[in-house]
Amino acid sequence: MAAISLQAEQILERSARYIAGGVVSLNRKADPQIVFTQARGSRLTDANGNEYIDYHAAFAPHLLGHNHPEITAAVTRAIEEGWSLIGSGPTFWEARLAELLCRAVPSLERVQIVNTGSEASAYAIRLARAWTSRDDIITPLGGYNGWHDDVGRAVMPSLEQVGPRVSPGEYPFVPISAGIPLSTQQRIHCVNFNDLDSVEYVLRRHRIACVLLEPVLQNVGVVLPEPGYLAGLRELCDRYGALLVFDEVKTGFRSALGGYQSVAGVRPDISIFGKAVANGYPLGVVGGRKEIMDLFDAPNPAKRVLIAGTYNGHPVNAAASIATLELLMRNDGAIYRDIEAVSDRLCSGIEVILAEAGVVGVVARNASAFCIYFCQATPRDWHAILADHDFSLDKRLRLDLISRGVYFFPIPCKQGSVSAAHTSADIDFTLDAFRAALKAIQAR
Ligand SMILES: Cc1ncc(COP(=O)(O)O)c(C=O)c1O
Repeated sequence: MAAISLQAEQILERSARYIAGGVVSLNRKADPQIVFTQARGSRLTDANGNEYIDYHAAFAPHLLGHNHPEITAAVTRAIEEGWSLIGSGPTFWEARLAELLCRAVPSLERVQIVNTGSEASAYAIRLARAWTSRDDIITPLGGYNGWHDDVGRAVMPSLEQVGPRVSPGEYPFVPISAGIPLSTQQRIHCVNFNDLDSVEYVLRRHRIACVLLEPVLQNVGVVLPEPGYLAGLRELCDRYGALLVFDEVKTGFRSALGGYQSVAGVRPDISIFGKAVANGYPLGVVGGRKEIMDLFDAPNPAKRVLIAGTYNGHPVNAAASIATLELLMRNDGAIYRDIEAVSDRLCSGIEVILAEAGVVGVVARNASAFCIYFCQATPRDWHAILADHDFSLDKRLRLDLISRGVYFFPIPCKQGSVSAAHTSADIDFTLDAFRAALKAIQAR
């Protein structure tokens, strides 16, 4: 393979010429466009040789850091030992992975293994519809569950698009993409996070198959559930015969080994996982109650839910995930305590700097996931972010930090991620850069 010897401008030119949109996932399109060529541990290197401490983590999968040596070794070993994509019958590695997943997350009585979080959410919805014989879905504003039609509402709609806060009530569907059929749009009901009254309002009026949500909104920063919210959803779903589906693609394995559900003490019917479950390799998981998961092999063909995929349980990804889970489980989850300490140092350090600089701001945090909101208090939903957050300061700060070698994704409200590879020295460097960036912005 050709070594990467091109300069950033040449690579950007080639991308623009041959790739529709210039980059292979349009969620990655941001200004500035930096061409990264290498990543190791907590560090990214760009095509011009600049180094950055990475808090983007590719939208969060790299809980152990980039190119973790044990994960790389497990993948290399799998290839050398001849773990190929057999594509016929069960394999040792998919059985081992499924066993580890069910041991880690108690609500997973059975799992299926796919390649992405989007696939997992599509299957969760298909299962919920088959189980309930209903079609509609409730999902919160500010959530993201993948790119497909059934979850295709805008993640960060403007106030003009959704209108002012209503409760109890629902918001107009704002599509994230052209091409989503109207009939699908009508099946998706958007309410605010932390608003049980609105969930019940919709449950009373529509035949709801499932309430599908991230238990912590982590695609608009970090919006935590208020005490009683997730338990309240559990109770409402049971009362109205809907399934509760937790999208733990971002929170899973990052919040805790048992997912955020183990932190909240709420047991969903179905959960989906991705990202940190394989530390950067493409793997998605859908799992939950045995009798629901058994629909994948229901004797009655009219009730049977199809799951299929040439690359499901791909050995490279399975090897990465097995190694990741074994590492996370080691010494009774000791690694979580280390990441927690580093994350706490970073976030409390940022709050001190904000206070010293007289800037109104708070840091919302769920374990190693964090977001700085330029608000008086941590927001409870998307409307609170729209009303109170200083989006312009957020963007300027991200740009200034990038110029100082600290990489936050340059779109306001995007969650930051700390990894096991971030050191005390990285945090010191980041806090110094943060202090300097705020000062520079205030001086402008
Ligand atoms: C909460 C959540 N669910 C689902 C997805 C979709 O996962 P993937 O990009 O692997 O399809 C994402 C991706 O960012 C996500 O953040």
